[in-house]
Amino acid sequence: MKILLTGGAGFIGSHTCVELINAGHTPVIVDNFINSSAESVRRIEKIVGRSVPLYEADVSDREAMNRIFDENAFDCVIHFAGLKAVGESVSQPLRYYRNNLDTTLTLCETMQAHGVKKIVFSSSATVYGNQPEVPYREDMQSLGCTNPYGWTKYMIEKILEGQTVADPEWSVVLLRYFNPIGAHESGLIGEDPSGIPNNLMPYVAKVAVGELKQLSVFGNDYPTPDGTGVRDYIHVVDLARGHVKACDYAAGHTGSEIINLGTGHGYSVLDLVNTFMKVNNVNVPYVIAPRRPGDIAENYADPSKAKALLGWEAEKNLEDMCRDTYRFQSQNPKGYHT
Ligand code: UD1
Repeated sequence: MKILLTGGAGFIGSHTCVELINAGHTPVIVDNFINSSAESVRRIEKIVGRSVPLYEADVSDREAMNRIFDENAFDCVIHFAGLKAVGESVSQPLRYYRNNLDTTLTLCETMQAHGVKKIVFSSSATVYGNQPEVPYREDMQSLGCTNPYGWTKYMIEKILEGQTVADPEWSVVLLRYFNPIGAHESGLIGEDPSGIPNNLMPYVAKVAVGELKQLSVFGNDYPTPDGTGVRDYIHVVDLARGHVKACDYAAGHTGSEIINLGTGHGYSVLDLVNTFMKVNNVNVPYVIAPRRPGDIAENYADPSKAKALLGWEAEKNLEDMCRDTYRFQSQNPKGYHT
């Protein structure tokens, strides 16, 4: 299948591009590099040994999107493009709503005008809100989001679901990611956040290579086995393979489906830090700090729907995630800009 990846140069997009090519598909990337780098596309090409079609454009640029769809007969779209920093979304809500919603609307209108009716969307477990019980299942009602970033994911899910009601030929797969970490095992592509990372694993990786001094563990008084927050960390290559399966599924499906992509296992902050130190034989100094506002104690996925519908389940464990992250970080201590 010929598949358009919006935001295909980013962390999850780049790994998905590699796995799509491994599975015999033809991905085409559109990215404006606002939070990614053309270097990641060169690295993808190195891994797969062939060139990857790339358009540098903003997904909200209607003219550019029309041209891309005129030049390519897409079977499916995977929509990754979007702003994703939770804290920034709180201080710049209008920018987040404008960007994430505008890009999605322009993309859907362009798809509609060109008769492309299959889309896989990069959603997030954040859409569930703080549920009273774990694991999180797709049939749980959303309890609302805690920040504008999360609300854009929620709203985009509704926009796409609306399309399947208006036109029953549309197929929409809403993938709710848990906590993607890790990197390609080549060490060539990985996560390259700009500035000081907000998320746990990129922060740990930068402390490990000496770019940052020490990690703050946000709270050790949660009702969890060791008191620190528990999350469902998933290897980005497993996640990428989930997207390949989602495209295959969309090809023979109409309507909309929400599908969790997680492992079904929860690990605490200290589980992750200790595993990282052990498998990489490196020290990660940390201090216990106050809880971070908006954080929840624990979440993890019920991944059984992904297995039933897509025939997909995560294969890599926490040790693989820690090893692969450290390999990318040590080979690229300043990310793609070394
Ligand atoms: C966060 C977002 C979520 C988003 C996801 C993207 C919030 C409330 N949620 O999820 O909406 O989809 O990132 O990847 O921001 N931690 C530390 N020290 C740190 C950083 C994190 O102890 O320096 C802890 C946190 O308290 C949490 C765990 O590590 O218990 C994971 O945090 P993080 O990686 O930021 O992910 P989430 O908060 O789960």
